[in-house]
Amino acid sequence: MEILGIDIGGSGMKGALVNIETGKLITERFRIPTPPSRKPEDMAKVFKDIVSHFEYDGPIGCGFPTIIKHGVCKSVSNLNKAWLNLDTQKLFSEACGLPVTVINDADAAGYAVMNYGIGKNEQGLVLMITVGTGIGSGAFFNGTLIPNSELGQIPYKKHKKIEHWTADSIRKKENLSFAEWGKRLNIFLELVDVIVCPDLIILGGGVSKDFKKYEKHIKIETPVKPASLGNHAGIIGAAAAVSVNTIK
Ligand code: BGC
Repeated sequence: MEILGIDIGGSGMKGALVNIETGKLITERFRIPTPPSRKPEDMAKVFKDIVSHFEYDGPIGCGFPTIIKHGVCKSVSNLNKAWLNLDTQKLFSEACGLPVTVINDADAAGYAVMNYGIGKNEQGLVLMITVGTGIGSGAFFNGTLIPNSELGQIPYKKHKKIEHWTADSIRKKENLSFAEWGKRLNIFLELVDVIVCPDLIILGGGVSKDFKKYEKHIKIETPVKPASLGNHAGIIGAAAAVSVNTIK
């Protein structure tokens, strides 16, 4: 079955058709930069443009970079504050005239790695940590999603949220070497390890492909592995969420 998956981030909105039996993209990825306003009406328009690009008319799965409870946005994160308490599923469905399932973007990426990637058949507590504009987390216990875990929101020193010190956007902004940034990531992972004590941590987002460059700075005992699906995990998992549909 082919489903359109859309992954919405702070800097880009990306979509592709996904074969949800195999977890493979069956089209090229289509990306439009997130409108600088990051406002609902502007982003809904881009959402519609992505759907039109694929001339698609089926159910859509979408990963969104905030807490999503039953389709409703429950945090602002890196977006405009007008998103708070907005029914994202309704907004996007009305924009394109198709049914849309919205879940948190890191939960979506987690679906992808747990169903088709390196997390497949992993038991116990597995965390998918996505590192990009912000830091997201998807928690799975014996393969079942525990939604909206939000580990990037842990306060750290003078930072209200540790993602403001450790996200990939900060690495780029502060021009940090992978060694410098890897040490920050390790401090974050140490906190995660103490707070939730996972069995396995999977790292996603753009930096997963650079894992070799900072691996030696990751010193926690819990195994940490890069996500095999790289930057496509968000799209693939969003599409898979339509069929899994366990958290609606
Ligand atoms: C948000 C999360 C999101 C993550 C990655 C964070 O700022 O709070 O909900 O998963 O960014 O986009």
